Amino acid sequence: QSGNNPQLNDNQILNISHRGASGHAPEHTLASYELGDKMGGDYIELDLQMTKDGELIAMHDETLDRTTDGTGLVKDYTLEEIKQLDAGSWFNETYPEKANEEFAGLQVQTLQEVIEHFGKNKNYYIETKSPEVYPGMEEQLLDILEQYNLTRQNAPSSRVIIQSFSEASLQKVHDLNEDIPLVQLLDYKTTATITDEELAHYSEYAIGLGMSYTKINEEYVQKTREHDLLIHPYTVNEKEDMKRLLEWGVTGMFTNYPDVLEEVLKEM
Ligand code: G3P
Ligand code: CA
Repeated sequence: QSGNNPQLNDNQILNISHRGASGHAPEHTLASYELGDKMGGDYIELDLQMTKDGELIAMHDETLDRTTDGTGLVKDYTLEEIKQLDAGSWFNETYPEKANEEFAGLQVQTLQEVIEHFGKNKNYYIETKSPEVYPGMEEQLLDILEQYNLTRQNAPSSRVIIQSFSEASLQKVHDLNEDIPLVQLLDYKTTATITDEELAHYSEYAIGLGMSYTKINEEYVQKTREHDLLIHPYTVNEKEDMKRLLEWGVTGMFTNYPDVLEEVLKEM
């Protein structure tokens, strides 16, 4: 449970609720995060975008269209405007079999609201999205974490992990605060391979790597582990895939179904 403080080492497999329990509820809403927590997630995974007036919000896409009833770029709207949108009804329409009337009208959350809601005793796995579009995103993120005393906890027991596909963004965070554990996300187009040089490079600033589970094999996982890096593949929703990855030696994974991963972990 994310009330506990999971250890960032080989001994604990991290169950990371991807956008919350987003297989069960509209992603990045409080309903989704709450379910993730109840269903055994150790960390709430949270993507960040930035509003026109510089507020960090929890949203995956750069545009509002897919997950709200709004349209256009997040950066063209103020927080006040975005707060008026419905971030839940799209889920009921897209997944009628999972629809719940309580999802209708759910609001987009700011990072601050999420931390206020869950408190500083929960664990947050935060992604800087499109950092090149949002200058100042990293400073703003660290300011908020600082406000809630979430920056002074080194690995292996940090309540916050920061992840990004952008190495520049992670390096910036690292320059601002070298204690916060970082995870470098890697976007492979074909089967992933990784060299010792690359692994040594990532180890200089990151505690782990994340990549699509569909692109890796046992050799990749083992090699990463030999360099003492954690490995958290995304987004793993099927039992069989979870079991195979655990056998290969991954140290956690992102899932839209933390309940399913919880079950798999209990069986092992
Ligand atoms: O952060 C891990 C995974 O979520 C990366 O892909 O596109 O779902 O943010 P994406
Ligand atoms: Ca993400």
